[in-house]
Amino acid sequence: MIDGKLNISLVHNEADFEAMKQIRRAVFVDEGHIPEDKEFDGNDYCAAHVLAKVNGKPQGTMRIRFFSDFVKFERMAVMPDYRKTDMADKIMKYGFDYAIAKGYERVYGICKEELLHRWEKNGYTRIPDAPLIEQNGMTLIPIMRRLPKNEHSLSLQSNLSLLNLPEGEWPQMDALRLREDNEKAYLNFILQKFKKKRD
Ligand SMILES: CC(C)(COP(=O)(O)OP(=O)(O)OC[C@H]1O[C@@H](n2cnc3c(N)ncnc32)[C@H](O)[C@@H]1OP(=O)(O)O)[C@@H](O)C(=O)NCCC(=O)NCCS
Repeated sequence: MIDGKLNISLVHNEADFEAMKQIRRAVFVDEGHIPEDKEFDGNDYCAAHVLAKVNGKPQGTMRIRFFSDFVKFERMAVMPDYRKTDMADKIMKYGFDYAIAKGYERVYGICKEELLHRWEKNGYTRIPDAPLIEQNGMTLIPIMRRLPKNEHSLSLQSNLSLLNLPEGEWPQMDALRLREDNEKAYLNFILQKFKKKRD
């Protein structure tokens, strides 16, 4: 468990963008010996970033990029003091909720063989027949996770005031945050309520 107040949100400002980079520099470049130019590949400017803070101090991050019918979760990094806590799970869950709110139904990832078991705990499975990937001197396994269908994701019919909210701060996200074990039933229940309110 995490001792302190955990806050997870998307990066919305320069300070948090810099904090995200500092975590990834410490974890991937310094600890993992990934060359800096490979780690910061330009896609950071075209992605959403989840940032986890404990008592206001940034401790974990993950990058999300969007494709036509799937999202790609990448560069998950948790500072050493917060490994073996539930921080990685909570970052992952935030990412799932964000993708569900947007209407995505599949998450794609790649992982080292040593981490496959870890990500299976978050519902990922190997992508059948997908070839292994050689990258930065590592062999990586393509994995995916299904997400529950969201009939009420933001759409062309959504109120503009909802579309203009800061990314990830839609009422749906609050609903998803409150969710307990029955993911699908709870999601449908809350989204029905949300739809009535919106209509
Ligand atoms: C991946 C990460 C977020 C998981 O955090 P966590 O849920 O708290 O889990 P742990 O750190 O305990 O890691 C789970 C297991 O994977 C191992 N592991 C973690 N990162 C690893 C890496 N980069 N290479 C090889 N093994 C790794 C850990 O040693 C641990 O093994 P153990 O259970 O035998 O002790 C965290 O370990 C981390 O930030 N790692 C470095 C960055 C990284 O590899 N990101 C993942 C990209 S797919």
